[in-house]
Amino acid sequence: MSQDIKTKIEHLTAELNEYNYQYYVLANSIISDFDFDQKLKELELLESQYPQYRDPNSPTLKVGGDITSKFKTVKHRWPMLSLSNTYNEDDLRDFDERIIKAIGHPVPYVCELKFDGLSISITYENGCLKQAITRGDGVQGDDVTNNVKTIRSIPHQIVGDNIPPTFEIRGEIFMHKQAFERLNEERRENDEQTYANPRNFASGSIKLQDSAEVAKRPLDCFLYFLYMADRERVFQTHWQSLEAVKEWGFHVSQHSKLCSSIDEVLDFVHYWDKERHNLSFEIDGIVIKVNDYNYQEELGFTAKSPRWATSFKFKAERVETKLEQVTYQIGRTGAVTPVANLTPVLLAGTTVKRATLHNANEIERLDLHEQDTVFVEKGGEIIPKIIAVNLEKREPNSAAILYPTHCPECGTELIRQQGEAVHYCPNQSGCRPQIVGKLQHFSGRKMMDIAGLGNETIETFYTLGLIQTIADMYSLKDRQDQLVNIERFGQKSINNMLAGIEISKEKPFEKVLFALGIRHVGETVAKRLAYHYKNIDALRSASIEDIATVPDVGIRIAESVYAYFQEDKNNAEIAYLKDAGLQFEIPEIIIELASEELSGQTFLISGVFANHSREELASLIEANGGRMLSSISAKLNYLVAGDKMGPSKLAKAEKLGIPIISDQELLQMIQ
Ligand code: IVH
Repeated sequence: MSQDIKTKIEHLTAELNEYNYQYYVLANSIISDFDFDQKLKELELLESQYPQYRDPNSPTLKVGGDITSKFKTVKHRWPMLSLSNTYNEDDLRDFDERIIKAIGHPVPYVCELKFDGLSISITYENGCLKQAITRGDGVQGDDVTNNVKTIRSIPHQIVGDNIPPTFEIRGEIFMHKQAFERLNEERRENDEQTYANPRNFASGSIKLQDSAEVAKRPLDCFLYFLYMADRERVFQTHWQSLEAVKEWGFHVSQHSKLCSSIDEVLDFVHYWDKERHNLSFEIDGIVIKVNDYNYQEELGFTAKSPRWATSFKFKAERVETKLEQVTYQIGRTGAVTPVANLTPVLLAGTTVKRATLHNANEIERLDLHEQDTVFVEKGGEIIPKIIAVNLEKREPNSAAILYPTHCPECGTELIRQQGEAVHYCPNQSGCRPQIVGKLQHFSGRKMMDIAGLGNETIETFYTLGLIQTIADMYSLKDRQDQLVNIERFGQKSINNMLAGIEISKEKPFEKVLFALGIRHVGETVAKRLAYHYKNIDALRSASIEDIATVPDVGIRIAESVYAYFQEDKNNAEIAYLKDAGLQFEIPEIIIELASEELSGQTFLISGVFANHSREELASLIEANGGRMLSSISAKLNYLVAGDKMGPSKLAKAEKLGIPIISDQELLQMIQ
């Protein structure tokens, strides 16, 4: 029996490792997410019952878990050197000439992209990932093995022919641009400090103490260098070693090139200088390495870097333009962000008109004056940033830009909390952009999604004094006489909006909680709080310490939630909204049924149902671990169909072979 279980665990481990390799290294999806998760769950269960058979490199470890205490410092077996830099064609030709002089003739080079991340050195023993160390000071670094194990494209176990018993492989951990933008967007929504570029995000992530948190960050890693005993007896060239490690299952860039002359190297450099913006990740240059190990040995090292390699650094694209004006944006939470309005200028393929100045410290750092000429760069190729002022072009007597002491909109004195870089306007109930921003947030697509009450209508209604608070939205139907004669807002628009407001009353508690706009409470946190406390009264009476125990909720968020409920006007508003019929609790049926039954499966709900609203069904699906999709595609697992569903939807689902189920069948799946 126990032999069977051992074999089963081994089998599942090998199978899942193969899927991970296919998916994260070769970009082949050969199993559905659902089936993968099922197998992973099965393995997790077996491992928890028979921990003695757990492989130390089990794929279940890729979801993180252990809280690591401070990292251990470890000495590198081979020091992690840096590379000399070149900045132009002449520098590169000099590098080539030095090599020709030493060797006696031209030699082939391998050109590689210079990935902009953080370098890592990983040791494997008997095919198993043993240890991963950061560069540190080059001589010793931090042991971040547990965190590195959460990176999907790094294999825990490799199999194949001719794998050396021990070797060290080096590479660069990074984050794809799109994933970075998405994560920063989420942080912005939650009013959290955003990261400047993907590299900072990647290196911040790898140094987190909690590997479960690291596992949530979509990190990737390219490997580009192999060290092992007697390497030169196995491989003659760096290129051969790259081919081999690719075979062993490592993620090796497909953009490397073997070049036979410095002219070919230069072509490669020029090509990528133009094309780099089209890559899904960031590079800051090209690395040029002598291919032949014998020649590498002949050339040797200086104290800091190898003589057989160099890097060509791309110039960050930088342009000069004029600062026309600094304006201040006031967010719905009162954060005051300075924005530089610039004379439009072309930079890295897009026209730049504005650049964020982040906060008061940044204005001070730049010592910005009115009408200054500034250098603008695309920070990490994404967000335009003012790098410096061209002092030679500063107008004499131009006044320094001073961050305001009072809110430019309502005149209230700004405050800055200790340890925070951002100033806030504390006048939450009297500062127009804050109020309008809150109302717009409430009605927004991911929150209450009120059809017919878009951003512009909210602005107009606020200006006309029709809505000042969220509660006012729900009394509009009793004040219809006030809605006539509004420009470009006829009876049809009124009906549409009032219907949208009525429907919003069915939005589940977690959406309402998110929509209230409590500082630092984003979509995920709202969901966690809603399902943890089940209703608003339980949340209101929770202490800061208690709130902070909820997953994904830190002390800063807990303090903000607690403070929200200390204000009478917030509680009065909630009482009004409750009376108006909004949802402030998780329905009994969902609490009873909550499980992970639908984990990994996707659903779309269409049509009308006799016993449930669509919102209720969606909450039920999410409470049971399922995910809602917004359209029919091959990614959809189930279409939950009610009456009056559009025929085209039905046809599309049938064509794609997607199972169509009733609400009853959905309930059965959960039970
Ligand atoms: S090879 C001894 N190859 O650049 C040579 N490095 O400035 C070892 N880097 O510390 C490095 N992409 O973090 C090499 N394709 C690549 C690289 C690369 C990025 C980083 C690496 C290194 C730094 C040197």
